[in-house]
Amino acid sequence: MSKNIAIIGAQWGDEGKGKVIDIYAKNSDVVVRYQGGNNAGHTVVIDKESFILHLIPSGILHKGKICIIGNGVVVDPKALLEEISMLEAKGIKVDGRLFVSLDAHVIFPYHRKLDELREARKKNIGTTKKGIGPCYADKVARLGIRFVDLLNDEIFRQILQSNLDEKNAILSRIYNVEGFSFDMLYREYKDYAIKLKKYIADTKVMLNEAIKAKKRVLFEGAQGTLLDVDHGTYPYVTSSNSTAGGASTGTGVGPTKIDKVIGVVKAYTTRVGEGPFPTEFQEELMNKIREKGKEFGATTGRPRRCGWFDGIVVKHAVMVNGIDEIVVTKLDVLDCLDSIKICTAYKYEGKIYKDFPSDIMVLSNCEPVYEELPGWRSDTTGITSYLGLPKNAKNYLKRIQKVLGAKIALISVGCDRKQTFSRD
Ligand code: GDP
Ligand code: IMO
Ligand code: MG
Repeated sequence: MSKNIAIIGAQWGDEGKGKVIDIYAKNSDVVVRYQGGNNAGHTVVIDKESFILHLIPSGILHKGKICIIGNGVVVDPKALLEEISMLEAKGIKVDGRLFVSLDAHVIFPYHRKLDELREARKKNIGTTKKGIGPCYADKVARLGIRFVDLLNDEIFRQILQSNLDEKNAILSRIYNVEGFSFDMLYREYKDYAIKLKKYIADTKVMLNEAIKAKKRVLFEGAQGTLLDVDHGTYPYVTSSNSTAGGASTGTGVGPTKIDKVIGVVKAYTTRVGEGPFPTEFQEELMNKIREKGKEFGATTGRPRRCGWFDGIVVKHAVMVNGIDEIVVTKLDVLDCLDSIKICTAYKYEGKIYKDFPSDIMVLSNCEPVYEELPGWRSDTTGITSYLGLPKNAKNYLKRIQKVLGAKIALISVGCDRKQTFSRD
C-alpha cells in the first residue's frame, strides 16, 4: 500500500477533491494543503451535512488526524479564523491538530483590493478576488510577509511600512482609490498573530519527522492542472503550481517521498471564470447539466461553465502530474443523457492536435473531435459496486481509461462519502 499520496485536480478545479481527500484521509495520519489559498472550496458531505473548506485540509473532519497548511499556501488570517470558528461551532476540535507553516505567506487587504481593481479594470481572468495573485506576486518579488515575519515585531513593522509605501502609491496613482493606514493594518494583523500563534509551526520539520516515523501523509491539491500557472491555460490560470510538483515545494517534503499521485476527474468538465474551454456545452445542455450537477462555485457561488469530458485535457494532466490512478466523480450527473461525447482531439486550421496545445489561439478557436457513446438513462446514485453499473456506464468508463492510458481506481456517484466504490 502506498504511504504518501498526492491527490490533485486533473481538470479546471472543482473535480470533487474534497470528497476524495476525505475518503483517503481515513487511512492517513497527516493531511497537508500545499498551494492556493481560500480561492479553493472543497466540499465534504457526511450524512447529509455539508462542509465547505477553503483553507483547512479536508482531513479535519476525521477525528485525530493532523492537518497542515504548508508553506506553499497563501493564507488570509481572517478567513482562517472564520473557518476555525465554523468548524468549532459544528463540534470539530482543531486545537492540537491544525498547524500552519511559519513560511506561508500572508494575504493582506491590499492584495484583495488590487485583485478586485485589476479585475474591474480589465475583466480578463474572472478571479475569486481573494487576493491570491497579488500575494503570490509579492512572494516572488521578495516583498511578501510570512507568518514568521508577522511574529517578529521589528521585521513586521519594517516590511509592512515598505509594502504600504508602494501599495498606497499604486492604489492612489493608478486606481485613484484611497490607500491603507499603517496603524490600522498593523493592529489588525498583530491581533491575528496573537490568535493564530498556537497554530504556527515549522511544518516542514513536522512532516519530514512524521514520514521518518512511517506515518502516512496525504497531500491535498487545490484548483486543478489546467489552472496551474505553468501547465494550465495561461494566462487564464491561478498563481500557483496546483500540479503534483507543487506538493513538494509547497511542503518541504522531497519528491522522492511521494509514493503515488491520484488525479480526480469529473465524468464531464467544468470551469469557473474566463478562459478557453474547447468542449463547452451550448446553452440547453449547459443548463441541464449545471442544474443536475449543482454546478455553482463553492467559494463564489458563480455558475460553473460545463462541457463534455475532454480527453486531451486529462491526458495532459496524467502526463504533467505523473498520475498513477484516476478517481472519476459525478458519473451520476450523466444519468439523464441519451448519448455522451468524449473529446479525443482538437482540429485547428486543418491540423489535428492530439496533445494539449499551449497556444491560447489554438485552444480558443479549435474544434473538438468527438467520439459518441450511448448513455445509460438510469439512476446510478444507489449503486455500490462497479459490477452493479449499467453496461453503457461501464463502457463509458472503459473508454475514458483507454483514452487516458491510466487506471481508474474509484468511482463516485453522489456527494456522500458512502456513494463511492472501487473499479475492481
Ligand atoms: P473540489 O473543489 O474539487 O473539492 O470540488 P467542489 O467541492 O468545489 O465541487 C464538487 C461538488 O460536487 C461538491 O458539491 C460535491 O459535494 C459534489 N460531488 C462530489 N462528488 C460527487 C458525485 O459523485 N456526484 C454528485 N452528484 N456530486 C458530487
Ligand atoms: P478548488 O480547489 C475552480 C479559478 C478562478 C479563476 C482563476 C484565477 O475548489 O478546485 P484566483 O482567485 O485563483 O486568482 O482565480 O482560477 N479558480 C478556481 N476554479 N476551483 C477552484 O478551486 C479555483 N480556484 C481558483 O475562478 O478563473
Ligand atoms: Mg471547489
